[in-house]
Amino acid sequence: MKFEIRHALPDDLLAMSAADSRAFGITYTSTDIDDFRPLFDPDRYLLAYDPADATILGVTGAFPFEITVPGGATLATEGVTWVSVAATHRRQGILRGLMDRQHREHAEQGVALSVLTASEGGIYGRFGYGQASRQREVRIDRRLARMRADAPNPGGVRYVDAEEARALAPDVHRRWAAVTPGALSRSEPWWDHEFVDRAERRGGGTELFHLVHPDGYASYRIHQSDRSCRVVDFFAATEDAHAALWRVLLGLDLTHTVTSEACPLDDPLPWLLEDPRQVRTTDLADGLWARILDVERTLAARRYPVDIDAVLDVADPFLDLGGRFRLRGGPGGASCERVTSEPDAHLNIATLAMLYFGSHRAHAMARAGLLAADDPAVLAALDSAFAADREVRHGTHF
Ligand SMILES: CC(C)(COP(=O)(O)OP(=O)(O)OC[C@H]1O[C@@H](n2cnc3c(N)ncnc32)[C@H](O)[C@@H]1OP(=O)(O)O)[C@@H](O)C(=O)NCCC(=O)NCCS
Repeated sequence: MKFEIRHALPDDLLAMSAADSRAFGITYTSTDIDDFRPLFDPDRYLLAYDPADATILGVTGAFPFEITVPGGATLATEGVTWVSVAATHRRQGILRGLMDRQHREHAEQGVALSVLTASEGGIYGRFGYGQASRQREVRIDRRLARMRADAPNPGGVRYVDAEEARALAPDVHRRWAAVTPGALSRSEPWWDHEFVDRAERRGGGTELFHLVHPDGYASYRIHQSDRSCRVVDFFAATEDAHAALWRVLLGLDLTHTVTSEACPLDDPLPWLLEDPRQVRTTDLADGLWARILDVERTLAARRYPVDIDAVLDVADPFLDLGGRFRLRGGPGGASCERVTSEPDAHLNIATLAMLYFGSHRAHAMARAGLLAADDPAVLAALDSAFAADREVRHGTHF
C-alpha cells in the first residue's frame, strides 16, 4: 500500500470531517464544523493520502495544552486527536506512519510529553503510550444520598447565566488545574467552544445550567426521560467549593439520579455522605494516556514526595528516545540526566508514563513483567517516590 503524508490546509477541514464521521459513526453538520474551526490549527494535523488521486486515507491531529504534573509544575503538551484511518485501508500501516511522523515532529519541536484518550485500549501501547489515569463514571441515587450531619456546609453557590459562567469559570479552572495532576489547560477559544450549547447536541437534555462558587464551577443538564442530572463540568479549587457544589446537585428535587462521567477515584464525595455506597461506580476505564518524548525534562518537572536516586533503563522501540537516565528527586525538585552507569530498573517508556502520574504502582508493573529490578527495595523506592497526593484528572474531553 502506497500512501504519502502531508500537513493539513485550512480547506481540508470539510474532507477531514467526512473521514472522521465515517470512522466514528457520527454526523457533523456545517454548524458543527464552523463551531470547531477556531480550534483547528492545520499545522497540527497530518493527512495520509493516496498519491494517485489525493483521497484522504488517514488523519491525526493535536490540540496544544499545558498539563499539570505531580507537584504543580506544568509542561507544554500536545493532545493527540482526530485519529482515524479509512475502513477501506486499515491494517496496512497508515496509523503507524502517521504516529511516527507526528511524534517525531513533536519531539523535534521540544514537546516533552504528548497525551490522548483512546477509543480502544489496544492501540497506543505500541507507540509508547501508557495509561496515566483512570476515568470513573458514577451514579448517585439522589433520593437516598444524604450528606453527613457534620459535613461542611459552606454555601456560596449561585446560579448564573452562560455569559457570567463563561467569564468566571476560567479562573476557577486555572486554580483547580494548579492542584490537580494531569489537568489540561483550556485556551480562550476552547472555553468559547465549551459554551456552545446547540439544542441539537443536547442528547435530549435541557440547556446547560451553570453553578458558580468563588472557588468552584459546575454545569449540568437535566434529562427528563430518566429524571437524571448529568454533570458536564465540575471543578473545585477548594474542598469547601467541592462540598458546596455537591450539596446543590444532590438537592435537585424532582430528579432521581445525578451522574458524572469523570469522578476521580479519590474524590471525597462518598465520605461527605451518610452512606458512601450511594456513590456507585458505573464504569471504570482508562482515562488519559501519556507518551514521554523527553525523559529528562519530563522526569525533572515533577516533584517527588520522598527522595529518590535511581538509574532507569528506558526502552523505546517505537521512537528510540530511551536510554539510561539517572533520576535524583525529592520534595524540593528533581534532576534527570543521561548516564552510562548500571541501571537499577528496566522498563518500557509506556510503563514510565504510567508510573509518572502516580496512578499505578511499580510493584504492579513488576508483577505484570513490565518493570524489572533485581533489588526489591528499588520497587518500594519507586512506589514511594512516584506517588502523587491526588488522583490524575485531565478534566477536558478532547
Ligand atoms: C485505530 C485505527 C486508526 C488503526 O489504523 P490502521 O491504519 O489500521 O493501523 P495500522 O495498520 O497502522 O496498525 C498499526 C498497529 O496497530 C495495530 N492496531 C491497529 N488498530 C488496532 C486496534 N483497533 N486494536 C488493536 N491494535 C490495533 C495493528 O495491528 C498494527 O500493529 P503492529 O504494527 O504492531 O503489527 C483504525 O482502525 C480506525 O480508524 N479505527 C476507528 C477510529 C478509531 O478508533 N480511532 C482511534 C481514536 S483514539
